[in-house]
Amino acid sequence: MEKVAANKGLLLERSTLVSDSRNPVGWTLLHSAAAAGASICVSGLLKLGANPFARDLTGRYPLHLAAAHEAPNLKHLKVCDILMAAMAKQGLASKKDVRAFYKSQGSRYDGFREALLPGRDLLMQHAVPWVKRPKTWISVGCGTARDIEFVTGHVKAAGTKVILVDLSDALLDMARQRVIDLGLQTQVQLVEGDINDPKIRKKLPEADLVTCSYCLTMIPKWKDALKNMLGLVKPGGNLALIDFVTREGRESNWDQKLYKWWFSMDGVYFNREHVDWLRAQKSLSTIWYSEEESRVPYTPYTPTHYLYVGEKAK
Ligand SMILES: C[S@@+](CC[C@H](N)C(=O)[O-])C[C@H]1O[C@@H](n2cnc3c(N)ncnc32)[C@H](O)[C@@H]1O
Repeated sequence: MEKVAANKGLLLERSTLVSDSRNPVGWTLLHSAAAAGASICVSGLLKLGANPFARDLTGRYPLHLAAAHEAPNLKHLKVCDILMAAMAKQGLASKKDVRAFYKSQGSRYDGFREALLPGRDLLMQHAVPWVKRPKTWISVGCGTARDIEFVTGHVKAAGTKVILVDLSDALLDMARQRVIDLGLQTQVQLVEGDINDPKIRKKLPEADLVTCSYCLTMIPKWKDALKNMLGLVKPGGNLALIDFVTREGRESNWDQKLYKWWFSMDGVYFNREHVDWLRAQKSLSTIWYSEEESRVPYTPYTPTHYLYVGEKAK
Protein backbone atom coordinates (compact mmCIF):
# COMPACT_ATOMS: atom_id res chain seq x y z
CA MET A 1 0.00 0.00 0.00
CA GLU A 2 1.25 3.43 -0.92
CA LYS A 3 2.62 5.36 2.00
CA VAL A 4 3.08 9.07 2.32
CA ALA A 5 5.20 10.90 4.81
CA ALA A 6 3.22 13.47 6.70
CA ASN A 7 4.54 16.21 8.97
CA LYS A 8 6.28 15.20 12.20
CA GLY A 9 7.60 12.02 10.65
CA LEU A 10 4.23 10.28 10.84
CA LEU A 11 3.63 7.62 8.24
CA LEU A 12 0.00 7.38 7.21
CA GLU A 13 -1.50 5.11 4.66
CA ARG A 14 -2.93 6.96 1.69
CA SER A 15 -6.28 5.23 2.09
CA THR A 16 -6.54 6.57 5.66
CA LEU A 17 -5.87 10.10 4.52
CA VAL A 18 -8.48 10.20 1.82
CA SER A 19 -11.04 7.83 3.30
CA ASP A 20 -14.28 8.94 4.82
CA SER A 21 -13.16 8.18 8.38
CA ARG A 22 -14.52 10.84 10.68
CA ASN A 23 -14.35 12.16 14.21
CA PRO A 24 -17.51 12.13 16.37
CA VAL A 25 -18.85 15.32 14.76
CA GLY A 26 -18.30 14.00 11.27
CA TRP A 27 -15.07 15.83 10.38
CA THR A 28 -12.80 14.23 7.80
CA LEU A 29 -9.07 14.92 7.87
CA LEU A 30 -9.73 17.63 5.29
CA HIS A 31 -12.18 19.34 7.68
CA SER A 32 -9.54 19.27 10.44
CA ALA A 33 -6.83 20.65 8.18
CA ALA A 34 -9.17 23.37 6.93
CA ALA A 35 -10.21 24.36 10.45
CA ALA A 36 -6.53 24.58 11.45
CA GLY A 37 -5.71 26.77 8.44
CA ALA A 38 -3.10 24.21 7.39
CA SER A 39 -2.88 25.04 3.68
CA ILE A 40 -0.04 22.59 2.90
CA CYS A 41 -2.01 19.71 4.43
CA VAL A 42 -5.19 20.80 2.63
CA SER A 43 -3.39 20.85 -0.73
CA GLY A 44 -1.76 17.49 -0.02
CA LEU A 45 -5.02 15.84 1.00
CA LEU A 46 -6.79 17.17 -2.10
CA LYS A 47 -3.97 15.85 -4.31
CA LEU A 48 -4.46 12.44 -2.71
CA GLY A 49 -8.15 12.53 -3.58
CA ALA A 50 -9.81 13.85 -0.41
CA ASN A 51 -13.35 15.02 -1.10
CA PRO A 52 -13.87 18.81 -0.68
CA PHE A 53 -17.65 18.18 -0.73
CA ALA A 54 -17.60 15.89 2.33
CA ARG A 55 -19.98 17.24 4.96
CA ASP A 56 -19.78 16.93 8.71
CA LEU A 57 -22.79 15.97 10.82
CA THR A 58 -24.14 19.52 10.69
CA GLY A 59 -23.78 19.67 6.92
CA ARG A 60 -20.63 21.80 6.75
CA TYR A 61 -17.96 21.47 4.05
CA PRO A 62 -14.27 21.91 4.95
CA LEU A 63 -14.65 25.33 3.27
CA HIS A 64 -17.22 26.38 5.88
CA LEU A 65 -14.78 25.58 8.67
CA ALA A 66 -12.00 27.65 7.12
CA ALA A 67 -14.27 30.58 6.25
CA ALA A 68 -16.14 30.61 9.55
CA HIS A 69 -13.09 30.23 11.77
CA GLU A 70 -13.51 32.33 14.90
CA ALA A 71 -10.18 34.08 14.37
CA PRO A 72 -9.73 34.04 10.59
CA ASN A 73 -6.33 35.09 9.29
CA LEU A 74 -4.28 34.84 6.13
CA LYS A 75 -3.74 31.10 6.65
CA HIS A 76 -7.48 30.49 6.58
CA LEU A 77 -7.95 32.76 3.56
CA LYS A 78 -5.34 30.72 1.69
CA VAL A 79 -7.16 27.50 2.65
CA CYS A 80 -10.44 29.02 1.40
CA ASP A 81 -8.77 29.80 -1.95
CA ILE A 82 -7.44 26.27 -2.31
CA LEU A 83 -10.74 24.64 -1.35
CA MET A 84 -12.86 26.89 -3.58
CA ALA A 85 -10.62 26.10 -6.55
CA ALA A 86 -10.92 22.35 -5.86
CA MET A 87 -14.70 22.57 -5.44
CA ALA A 88 -15.10 24.59 -8.63
CA LYS A 89 -12.97 22.06 -10.54
CA GLN A 90 -15.08 19.14 -9.34
CA GLY A 91 -18.38 21.01 -9.53
CA LEU A 92 -17.73 21.98 -13.14
CA ALA A 93 -16.76 18.47 -14.20
CA SER A 94 -19.67 17.48 -16.41
CA LYS A 95 -19.38 13.81 -15.53
CA LYS A 96 -19.19 12.74 -11.89
CA ASP A 97 -17.08 9.66 -11.30
CA VAL A 98 -19.47 7.53 -9.26
CA ARG A 99 -16.92 4.72 -8.84
CA ALA A 100 -14.28 7.06 -7.42
CA PHE A 101 -16.87 8.78 -5.21
CA TYR A 102 -17.83 5.53 -3.48
CA LYS A 103 -14.28 4.20 -3.34
CA SER A 104 -13.39 7.15 -1.11
CA GLN A 105 -16.26 6.32 1.25
CA GLY A 106 -14.72 2.97 2.15
CA SER A 107 -16.28 0.77 4.80
CA ARG A 108 -17.85 3.75 6.61
CA TYR A 109 -20.49 3.99 3.89
CA ASP A 110 -23.32 2.13 5.54
CA GLY A 111 -23.12 3.65 9.00
CA PHE A 112 -22.89 7.21 7.78
CA ARG A 113 -25.35 6.99 4.89
CA GLU A 114 -27.97 4.81 6.55
CA ALA A 115 -29.99 7.70 7.92
CA LEU A 116 -29.56 9.72 4.73
CA LEU A 117 -31.49 7.18 2.66
CA PRO A 118 -34.80 6.82 4.49
CA GLY A 119 -37.79 4.63 3.71
CA ARG A 120 -35.99 1.65 2.15
CA ASP A 121 -37.34 -0.63 4.88
CA LEU A 122 -40.90 0.49 4.16
CA LEU A 123 -40.51 -0.01 0.41
CA MET A 124 -38.86 -3.39 0.69
CA GLN A 125 -40.98 -4.85 3.49
CA HIS A 126 -44.42 -3.41 2.83
CA ALA A 127 -44.75 -1.96 -0.68
CA VAL A 128 -43.10 -4.78 -2.63
CA PRO A 129 -45.66 -7.61 -3.00
CA TRP A 130 -43.70 -10.55 -1.52
CA VAL A 131 -46.98 -12.43 -1.44
CA LYS A 132 -46.26 -13.14 -5.14
CA ARG A 133 -43.09 -15.00 -4.07
CA PRO A 134 -40.82 -13.64 -6.84
CA LYS A 135 -38.48 -16.24 -8.28
CA THR A 136 -35.98 -13.65 -9.54
CA TRP A 137 -35.08 -10.20 -8.21
CA ILE A 138 -32.67 -7.73 -9.78
CA SER A 139 -31.50 -4.91 -7.50
CA VAL A 140 -30.09 -2.10 -9.67
CA GLY A 141 -27.54 0.16 -7.96
CA CYS A 142 -27.58 -2.21 -4.98
CA GLY A 143 -24.69 -0.48 -3.18
CA THR A 144 -23.81 -2.57 -0.14
CA ALA A 145 -27.01 -4.63 -0.56
CA ARG A 146 -28.66 -3.08 2.47
CA ASP A 147 -32.07 -3.68 0.83
CA ILE A 148 -31.66 -7.45 0.96
CA GLU A 149 -31.25 -7.33 4.73
CA PHE A 150 -34.76 -5.88 5.16
CA VAL A 151 -36.31 -8.90 3.45
CA THR A 152 -33.96 -11.82 4.06
CA GLY A 153 -36.85 -13.91 5.42
CA HIS A 154 -38.92 -13.39 2.26
CA VAL A 155 -35.96 -14.15 0.00
CA LYS A 156 -35.21 -17.37 1.84
CA ALA A 157 -38.88 -18.44 2.05
CA ALA A 158 -39.50 -17.87 -1.66
CA GLY A 159 -36.08 -19.22 -2.74
CA THR A 160 -35.68 -16.00 -4.73
CA LYS A 161 -32.60 -15.76 -6.97
CA VAL A 162 -31.17 -12.28 -6.40
CA ILE A 163 -28.95 -10.43 -8.85
CA LEU A 164 -27.17 -7.41 -7.42
CA VAL A 165 -25.96 -4.87 -9.99
CA ASP A 166 -23.69 -1.93 -9.20
CA LEU A 167 -21.04 0.28 -10.77
CA SER A 168 -18.86 0.39 -7.69
CA ASP A 169 -16.48 -2.49 -7.02
CA ALA A 170 -15.85 -1.09 -3.50
CA LEU A 171 -19.54 -1.28 -2.57
CA LEU A 172 -19.99 -4.66 -4.23
CA ASP A 173 -17.21 -6.02 -2.00
CA MET A 174 -19.28 -4.95 1.00
CA ALA A 175 -22.42 -6.40 -0.59
CA ARG A 176 -20.61 -9.73 -1.04
CA GLN A 177 -19.69 -9.83 2.64
CA ARG A 178 -23.26 -8.96 3.67
CA VAL A 179 -24.63 -11.74 1.49
CA ILE A 180 -22.26 -14.23 3.14
CA ASP A 181 -23.19 -12.98 6.62
CA LEU A 182 -26.87 -13.45 5.77
CA GLY A 183 -26.21 -16.98 4.53
CA LEU A 184 -27.56 -16.13 1.06
CA GLN A 185 -24.47 -16.84 -1.06
CA THR A 186 -26.10 -19.68 -2.97
CA GLN A 187 -29.03 -17.46 -3.98
CA VAL A 188 -27.19 -14.27 -4.91
CA GLN A 189 -25.13 -13.25 -7.94
CA LEU A 190 -23.18 -9.99 -8.15
CA VAL A 191 -22.77 -8.10 -11.42
CA GLU A 192 -20.41 -5.13 -11.64
CA GLY A 193 -21.32 -2.51 -14.23
CA ASP A 194 -23.56 0.23 -15.52
CA ILE A 195 -27.23 -0.59 -15.99
CA ASN A 196 -27.10 1.39 -19.23
CA ASP A 197 -24.26 -0.72 -20.64
CA PRO A 198 -25.66 -3.19 -23.23
CA LYS A 199 -22.96 -5.74 -22.26
CA ILE A 200 -24.22 -5.71 -18.67
CA ARG A 201 -27.85 -6.02 -19.67
CA LYS A 202 -27.02 -9.10 -21.73
CA LYS A 203 -25.89 -10.75 -18.48
CA LEU A 204 -29.25 -10.08 -16.82
CA PRO A 205 -32.30 -12.32 -17.21
CA GLU A 206 -35.89 -11.08 -17.10
CA ALA A 207 -37.02 -10.93 -13.48
CA ASP A 208 -40.21 -11.02 -11.45
CA LEU A 209 -39.00 -8.06 -9.42
CA VAL A 210 -36.66 -5.20 -10.33
CA THR A 211 -35.81 -2.64 -7.65
CA CYS A 212 -33.74 0.51 -7.59
CA SER A 213 -33.19 2.47 -4.39
CA TYR A 214 -31.61 5.91 -4.32
CA CYS A 215 -29.75 5.33 -7.57
CA LEU A 216 -31.83 6.81 -10.39
CA THR A 217 -31.08 10.41 -9.31
CA MET A 218 -27.38 9.58 -9.82
CA ILE A 219 -27.76 8.37 -13.39
CA PRO A 220 -27.45 11.13 -16.02
CA LYS A 221 -29.28 9.03 -18.65
CA TRP A 222 -32.10 8.25 -16.26
CA LYS A 223 -34.71 7.66 -18.98
CA ASP A 224 -32.53 4.98 -20.60
CA ALA A 225 -32.02 3.44 -17.16
CA LEU A 226 -35.79 3.33 -16.52
CA LYS A 227 -36.43 1.83 -19.97
CA ASN A 228 -33.74 -0.76 -19.30
CA MET A 229 -35.18 -1.64 -15.89
CA LEU A 230 -38.70 -1.88 -17.24
CA GLY A 231 -37.41 -4.07 -20.06
CA LEU A 232 -36.03 -6.48 -17.45
CA VAL A 233 -39.39 -6.94 -15.69
CA LYS A 234 -41.33 -10.03 -16.72
CA PRO A 235 -45.00 -9.55 -17.72
CA GLY A 236 -46.96 -9.53 -14.45
CA GLY A 237 -43.80 -8.66 -12.52
CA ASN A 238 -43.02 -5.57 -10.45
CA LEU A 239 -40.77 -2.54 -10.70
CA ALA A 240 -40.09 -0.77 -7.39
CA LEU A 241 -38.18 2.46 -6.84
CA ILE A 242 -37.38 4.84 -4.03
CA ASP A 243 -35.51 8.11 -4.48
CA PHE A 244 -35.37 11.78 -3.67
CA VAL A 245 -37.65 14.18 -5.50
CA THR A 246 -38.88 17.75 -5.22
CA ARG A 247 -42.21 17.74 -3.38
CA GLU A 248 -45.26 17.47 -5.65
CA GLY A 249 -46.91 20.89 -6.05
CA ARG A 250 -44.07 22.68 -4.21
CA GLU A 251 -41.31 22.45 -6.83
CA SER A 252 -40.75 26.21 -6.93
CA ASN A 253 -40.59 26.76 -3.14
CA TRP A 254 -37.21 27.95 -1.86
CA ASP A 255 -36.68 24.89 0.33
CA GLN A 256 -37.18 22.52 -2.60
CA LYS A 257 -34.73 24.54 -4.70
CA LEU A 258 -32.24 24.44 -1.84
CA TYR A 259 -32.46 20.65 -1.53
CA LYS A 260 -32.11 20.24 -5.28
CA TRP A 261 -28.96 22.39 -5.34
CA TRP A 262 -27.51 20.88 -2.16
CA PHE A 263 -27.81 17.26 -3.27
CA SER A 264 -26.57 18.07 -6.77
CA MET A 265 -23.20 18.86 -5.15
CA ASP A 266 -22.93 15.11 -4.50
CA GLY A 267 -24.09 14.16 -8.00
CA VAL A 268 -27.69 13.47 -6.88
CA TYR A 269 -30.15 15.21 -9.20
CA PHE A 270 -33.77 15.58 -8.07
CA ASN A 271 -36.11 15.40 -11.05
CA ARG A 272 -39.91 15.07 -10.99
CA GLU A 273 -39.80 13.74 -14.54
CA HIS A 274 -38.68 10.38 -13.09
CA VAL A 275 -42.00 9.94 -11.34
CA ASP A 276 -44.00 11.40 -14.24
CA TRP A 277 -42.34 8.94 -16.62
CA LEU A 278 -43.14 5.96 -14.41
CA ARG A 279 -46.76 6.98 -13.93
CA ALA A 280 -47.21 7.64 -17.67
CA GLN A 281 -46.20 4.12 -18.81
CA LYS A 282 -49.13 2.27 -20.32
CA SER A 283 -47.49 -1.07 -19.60
CA LEU A 284 -47.26 -0.26 -15.88
CA SER A 285 -50.07 0.08 -13.39
CA THR A 286 -49.17 1.88 -10.20
CA ILE A 287 -49.86 -0.25 -7.15
CA TRP A 288 -48.08 2.02 -4.65
CA TYR A 289 -47.12 5.66 -4.77
CA SER A 290 -46.33 7.83 -1.79
CA GLU A 291 -44.12 10.78 -0.93
CA GLU A 292 -42.58 11.37 2.50
CA GLU A 293 -40.36 14.02 4.01
CA SER A 294 -37.50 12.90 6.16
CA ARG A 295 -35.03 14.90 8.18
CA VAL A 296 -31.35 14.96 7.22
CA PRO A 297 -29.65 14.05 10.52
CA TYR A 298 -28.52 16.97 12.68
CA THR A 299 -30.10 19.55 10.37
CA PRO A 300 -33.55 21.16 10.15
CA TYR A 301 -33.80 20.10 6.49
CA THR A 302 -36.46 17.67 5.30
CA PRO A 303 -36.14 16.68 1.64
CA THR A 304 -38.83 14.49 0.09
CA HIS A 305 -38.48 10.94 -1.20
CA TYR A 306 -41.02 8.92 -3.16
CA LEU A 307 -41.86 5.23 -3.05
CA TYR A 308 -43.16 3.69 -6.26
CA VAL A 309 -44.25 0.16 -7.13
CA GLY A 310 -45.71 -0.69 -10.53
CA GLU A 311 -46.95 -3.93 -12.02
CA LYS A 312 -46.17 -4.73 -15.67
CA ALA A 313 -49.10 -5.73 -17.85
CA LYS A 314 -49.32 -9.48 -18.63
C1 LIG B 1 -26.92 6.18 -3.05
S1 LIG B 1 -26.35 4.60 -3.49
C2 LIG B 1 -27.69 3.57 -2.99
C3 LIG B 1 -27.29 2.14 -2.77
C4 LIG B 1 -28.37 1.20 -2.31
N1 LIG B 1 -29.40 1.03 -3.31
C5 LIG B 1 -28.98 1.65 -1.01
O1 LIG B 1 -30.13 2.11 -1.00
O2 LIG B 1 -28.29 1.56 0.03
C6 LIG B 1 -26.45 4.58 -5.26
C7 LIG B 1 -25.79 3.39 -5.88
O3 LIG B 1 -26.06 3.39 -7.27
C8 LIG B 1 -24.90 2.95 -7.96
N2 LIG B 1 -25.00 3.44 -9.35
C9 LIG B 1 -24.99 4.73 -9.77
N3 LIG B 1 -25.14 4.77 -11.11
C10 LIG B 1 -25.27 3.49 -11.54
C11 LIG B 1 -25.43 2.89 -12.82
N4 LIG B 1 -25.50 3.64 -13.93
N5 LIG B 1 -25.53 1.54 -12.91
C12 LIG B 1 -25.45 0.78 -11.77
N6 LIG B 1 -25.27 1.31 -10.53
C13 LIG B 1 -25.18 2.63 -10.41
C14 LIG B 1 -23.75 3.55 -7.17
O4 LIG B 1 -22.53 2.89 -7.42
C15 LIG B 1 -24.27 3.36 -5.75
O5 LIG B 1 -23.91 2.12 -5.22
